[in-house]
Amino acid sequence: MVKTITSWLSVGLLSAAVLTGCTTEKPEPQAAAEPVQEEVDPRGEILALSCASCHGTDGKSTGILPGFYGKSASYLKTVLMEYKNDERYSTVMGRHAKGYTDEEIDLIAEYFGSLSKNNSK
Ligand code: HEC
Repeated sequence: MVKTITSWLSVGLLSAAVLTGCTTEKPEPQAAAEPVQEEVDPRGEILALSCASCHGTDGKSTGILPGFYGKSASYLKTVLMEYKNDERYSTVMGRHAKGYTDEEIDLIAEYFGSLSKNNSK
């Protein structure tokens, strides 16, 4: 009898806890991840996906188009802004670069620029 009451009591307490969403456990504090490399805004990587169709993955071209793997962020930013502002001759890149805001060009340049800096190659 005592056992039955105890089990009902615990079931009751358990349901009450579940129903009220009450929990005594505090969420584990997130351990600060050690920065392995310089932080690069993740939006740059997403924007950079469109470049791969012509320039290869990570700007490592395997075809006729120029690759730009290993170029610095500042070089890429300059070139892309020149394309965007019709200050550099292009067949395709001028039109492509006009599709991005200046901030997006920054993000793309930072992303590609970070690739070779973080590699030993
Ligand atoms: C539709 C194909 C296409 C796409 C997509 C494309 N490019 Fe290009 N890119 C070209 C072509 C073609 C050239 C040569 C210049 C021209 O005629 O437009 C070029 C040239 C360049 C150059 C100059 C390379 C050098 O050192 O002379 C850079 C840098 C560049 N592209 C970066 C990018 C980036 C970054 C993206 C993505 C945001 C991108 N391209 C997307 C076709 C493309």
